[in-house]
Amino acid sequence: MAIIAASHKRVIVQGITGREGLSRARLMLDYGTQVVGGVTPGKGGQEAAGVPVFDSVKQACAELGNVDISVLFIPAPLVRSAALEAIDAGIKTLVIVPDRVPVYDVLEIDAAARQHGARFVGPNTLGVLSPEQAVLGMMGGRAAAIREWAFAGPVGITSRSGGITTSMAYYLARAGIGVSTAVHVGGDSIVGMPHARVLELFERDPQTRLVVMFGEIGTSQEEEAADLIERGLFTKPLIAYIGGKGAKEGTRFSHAGAIIEGGRGGHAGKVARLREVGAHIAEHFNDIPQIAADVLANLPAVKPAESTAKDPAQTWHTAITDIQPNAIRLRGRRLDALMGEVTFSQAIFLALTGHLPAAHVAPLLDAMFVSSIDHGTTPPSTLSARTAASTGAPLNAALAAGLLSINAFHGGAVEDAMRMIAAVQARMSQGMSLDDAAQALVEEYRAAKRVLSGLGHRIHTADPRTRQLLALAAECGVAAAGVDTIRALTAAFTRVTGKPLPINVDGALAAILYDLRIPPELGNAFFMIARTPGLVAHIMEEKTREKPMRVIYPNHAVYDGPEPE
Ligand SMILES: CC(C)(COP(=O)(O)OP(=O)(O)OC[C@H]1O[C@@H](n2cnc3c(N)ncnc32)[C@H](O)[C@@H]1OP(=O)(O)O)[C@@H](O)C(=O)NCCC(=O)NCCS
Repeated sequence: MAIIAASHKRVIVQGITGREGLSRARLMLDYGTQVVGGVTPGKGGQEAAGVPVFDSVKQACAELGNVDISVLFIPAPLVRSAALEAIDAGIKTLVIVPDRVPVYDVLEIDAAARQHGARFVGPNTLGVLSPEQAVLGMMGGRAAAIREWAFAGPVGITSRSGGITTSMAYYLARAGIGVSTAVHVGGDSIVGMPHARVLELFERDPQTRLVVMFGEIGTSQEEEAADLIERGLFTKPLIAYIGGKGAKEGTRFSHAGAIIEGGRGGHAGKVARLREVGAHIAEHFNDIPQIAADVLANLPAVKPAESTAKDPAQTWHTAITDIQPNAIRLRGRRLDALMGEVTFSQAIFLALTGHLPAAHVAPLLDAMFVSSIDHGTTPPSTLSARTAASTGAPLNAALAAGLLSINAFHGGAVEDAMRMIAAVQARMSQGMSLDDAAQALVEEYRAAKRVLSGLGHRIHTADPRTRQLLALAAECGVAAAGVDTIRALTAAFTRVTGKPLPINVDGALAAILYDLRIPPELGNAFFMIARTPGLVAHIMEEKTREKPMRVIYPNHAVYDGPEPE
């Protein structure tokens, strides 16, 4: 599979008629990358490297159809507008090659990317290489040369040095070890995809079985990678090498981002933190291939997948399940091995995201599902399910009726609240403090008369589920920016209006899902999965206790179950 760069991804080059853009477009095509077009304002209608040139990214997308990736070869001062143009046109992955892009411009690109669900590698990146599939940017030279020093295999590389990204692939190849994808995250202090985000992608990539990370002094990228491991969000073996051991505080070591300031970002601290979470630390760069060989030798063997289709065009891919005689795998893990080992909610998380959360996160996930299993006879999903059941609909039809009633105004608050949290975080990446960003969002929503999802409740003034969920999130070490943000939003509301608006269960769920790096589109899925048992219970009760076609008065239900404990 590989990450970011792949043979099926359709790529455009912004700045394709420039010196570097043109020569690199040719090299990318030569290696097999699907470069389908390019953009240079004023040069639309021409051809470069054998592909059409357009005046704007929007035009390119309209003419070419789906475009997955844009690689930018544009001088630094013009990068901001070119990147925003690509994001605005709907491109979800950018590779920003140029160096010296102003930090403030990068922050603006980052904010726009977050808002549009896009991501970018760089700036100041050599690019991305998925051997035998595709190369993006300036990595490697001629295709024939790349083929000599990099072949496909199980090791992912994430590196803060361009030169070391390729050397690492070269040394691994000499030791007979192939690479899934090599990513140069970029040498600047602020980059679109720091190590931790690359590790998240490697976690979901079935081809990658082990990751080698080249870190450096400066920034908190390596510490964030360690946090990710500690939170159970990166579970594959990691070999880390940290450069800059001898650097003194205040001295820059090679790249713009490699500088220790105020005692932070030092070599010893990074090494200690990574060791603490179980990473393999390579003391010497040359040791890496041997450590990788040893780690790989101890991993269980995997059989390469083969298609049964006679016509290759009929082959399609799924990363969810793999069924072989006597072996059923979910996201690469044997179901029989998971049974009895992981909780149902851990397995749900695995199915939805591709990675298994650590055992210490399991009680939190269980609590999240428990918190939404049912909440009375009045919610529209319950009423719809009971109404359908009372008409004689079979279980599946009544359940579908219930699920179909979970929408923007019922159960949909989780997704909306996650987007609010992301919007506050996007403001923070533009330099605002958390409190200011939260207040700005509250004011904006109030001015537009929009509902602040995840806050306030018709009945509860201190929702007991919220308190329990947030306490568990803190206990499991999951609570991070998402939880801080929802707390900041409720505080901001009180500051602005003088009235309380407590965090409700949807807000707590949204904050935790955000901290678990779940995409907002899946937020409501968690609610629907949680609610399904409650709906089934209501349907069965309706069918077994009530007369068909009765008039249901939602507020007139009287509880007659077991005594409250
Ligand atoms: C990005 C970089 C490679 C461009 O250099 P270059 O190719 O020599 O620059 P050029 O001026 O020849 O080409 C830039 C092209 O972008 C075009 N361009 C400018 N704005 C544009 C936009 N918004 N959209 C599309 N194209 C645009 C220019 O018109 C120009 O094309 P033209 O020459 O046909 O007019 C260079 O600025 C750079 O940053 N080099 C360092 C890269 C590096 O080391 N990265 C880190 C590796 S570790």
